[in-house]
Amino acid sequence: MEIDLEWNDHYLIGVEEIDVQHKMLLKIMRQVFSLKDQEASSPELKKTLRELKKYAQFHFKSEEMLMELYSYPKYEDQKTEHKLINAKLKTMMEQVKTENDISELLYFLIEWFVGHTRDKDRIMGIFINKNRSE
Ligand SMILES: [Fe+2]
Ligand SMILES: [Fe+2]
Repeated sequence: MEIDLEWNDHYLIGVEEIDVQHKMLLKIMRQVFSLKDQEASSPELKKTLRELKKYAQFHFKSEEMLMELYSYPKYEDQKTEHKLINAKLKTMMEQVKTENDISELLYFLIEWFVGHTRDKDRIMGIFINKNRSE
């Protein structure tokens, strides 16, 4: 898989505050990528990974609050996937520490961003937009 962490407008889901967060997430992922040759013990890498984890949690919470607000019917489905991503992120971060290799984590990040954002988040965005403008 090719590593492409540049923003592309096809990631837009049309819900402004969430689009801003997705851009920020990609930005942090790019920072992680730029540190790929550093040792796992490097303070900069550790700090960036911590930021990624925290920001991801904040982002998932934001989406979950919006879904609750508009009684999104696929709320549970999204929430389950968020939980899975969180758990996997945690495991991958542990793995980076023990194996000193960040490549698998990077592939996971891209898969998550492209997959989840363009599928589940996009469909959620259509629903929220529809309910907001009514
Ligand atoms: Fe998202
Ligand atoms: Fe999501």
